[in-house]
Amino acid sequence: MYRLVLFSLTLVGLVLVMNLSSYQSVEVNNEKYNFEAAEKAHIAHLKEVEELAKIHAEVTAPPVITDEVIEEKTIIPLDTPQLERADKLYKQCIACHAKDGSGKAANKAPRIGGQMEWYIEKQLLDMKNGVRVNQQMLTIVKKLSPEDIADLAAYLSKIPWGGVKEE
Ligand code: HEC
Repeated sequence: MYRLVLFSLTLVGLVLVMNLSSYQSVEVNNEKYNFEAAEKAHIAHLKEVEELAKIHAEVTAPPVITDEVIEEKTIIPLDTPQLERADKLYKQCIACHAKDGSGKAANKAPRIGGQMEWYIEKQLLDMKNGVRVNQQMLTIVKKLSPEDIADLAAYLSKIPWGGVKEE
């Protein structure tokens, strides 16, 4: 038992001596703590961190993909006033028939891009005159003049039947 106590005391003594010697190695500085300088250094450091965070965000941010460019690109060259008019008219059809006229099964809307001009014109006129009846199309076709219909037919027939690949 005596030996154990002696051993423990020696151990405690050793630890104390080690701590004391490390305390001695701390530099003694009698200068007054310069609060202003420390604060300035801290603010400068925060600024640096902020700038680095900005650079980090720029580097790691995923590229912004805007489809605006695609939106602005027309599906076919609008080289006549008729095609320009039709391009505007066709905007109301895109929801159901898709931008390139390839149709949308979900809306039961068939492919119309690349269809023959006379056929498109006939279908739209038939729908307007009640010869062919489809409720969805009726709402649209009611508002189209025969000229609108002719323009749309010319426009749609110029789109390649297979659709246009958007880059
Ligand atoms: C609300 C959805 C919707 C909108 C908007 C719409 N359509 Fe349709 N369209 C249809 C559906 C559904 C059919 C199929 C009609 C049927 O089954 O008889 C159709 C059929 C057609 C057809 C006949 C196709 C064929 O092969 O016989 C043409 C042409 C057509 N649409 C052109 C247009 C044009 C041009 C516009 C825009 C001015 C337009 N549609 C807007 C839903 C729509």
